[in-house]
Amino acid sequence: MIPARVQVVEVGPRDGLQNEPARIPTADKIAFVNGLADAGHSVVEVSAFVSPKWVPQMADASEVFAGITRKPGVRYTALVPNLAGLTRARQAGVDEIAIFAAASESFSKRNINQTIDESLATYKEVVEAAHTDGIRARGYLSTCFGCPFEGPVSPAKVASVAARLLDLGVYEVAISDTIGIAHPGQVPEVLGAVAAKAPLAKIALHFHDTRGTALVNVLAGLQAGVATFDASAGGLGGCPYAPGAAGNLATEDLLYMLDGLGVQTGVRLEQVMNASRRIEPLLGHPLPSRVVQATGATKKP
Ligand code: HMG
Ligand code: MG
Repeated sequence: MIPARVQVVEVGPRDGLQNEPARIPTADKIAFVNGLADAGHSVVEVSAFVSPKWVPQMADASEVFAGITRKPGVRYTALVPNLAGLTRARQAGVDEIAIFAAASESFSKRNINQTIDESLATYKEVVEAAHTDGIRARGYLSTCFGCPFEGPVSPAKVASVAARLLDLGVYEVAISDTIGIAHPGQVPEVLGAVAAKAPLAKIALHFHDTRGTALVNVLAGLQAGVATFDASAGGLGGCPYAPGAAGNLATEDLLYMLDGLGVQTGVRLEQVMNASRRIEPLLGHPLPSRVVQATGATKKP
């Protein structure tokens, strides 16, 4: 049995664009977000209020938020690493924030310049302040299936940091495969360890597709009872602080599989593809999504 309905969290404008070498004009980011909301997404991660010195691609987060057309029923979210980021996010009118920790120390240091313990102390303040303002917080947990610096990460460590994130008050933790190294044998093992400490209803899965295993990992997650999956329009993505991380699981590829399985998402594949195709000429490379590529190929004369 797999869930009849799945929540898709669209992370393309953030996880996708944060790693693109080309400068994407703010107006095109705004159109991308609007196109994704029009496609039926109910959660769009718009940008990141991180240090612009660390991730210049997200420096225009406030301008993107100011330019989007907010659709009722859509949550427009952003990454926030610290209280300075929360101040900016609040001013921009985010509906929800996402904090991001790691299950491995080396990645935590490289990505946010803090140990895991230091980051959780920072995030405790951030989540408390967000809740005071009535803003919900989601948590990401990176390197749950392997770390680019340390190699294997134990499921017990993943479960323990996931539980600590939930203790901070985040409503959900996205168990993340930052470098796209997970395979479907690992998914039940990691989820089993996490489920011993946290309800699966509060767990999402976030896959990158470096080794072509993202979709089959989703299937393993569905079979284990997870019903929330992150995906990035066009398959854009990667993390600037994770060497070897390729694109995220493409939203189009996820929707193609879920539609085929009869799983409801409320998101229209064709319209996501239109939003992705609009941004493609600005990237300087083809979209990685297999469904987009196949559809383009079949439409050619
Ligand atoms: P730091 O250098 O240790 O901290 O960075 P700092 O406090 O010394 O700040 C450095 C400078 O940045 C200062 O400016 C601050 O004011 C400024 P200066 O005094 O030098 O002129 N600053 C800020 N500016 C704007 N907004 C802010 C902010 N904070 C500081 N919020 C810090 C620490 C956490 C800030 C930095 O490491 C950072 O921004 N890291 C973010 C890295 C990042 O965004 N990575 C990608 C997202 S995570 C990801 O992709 C994984 C995920 O997809 C899940 C998965 O796949 O695993 C979520
Ligand atoms: Mg990611």
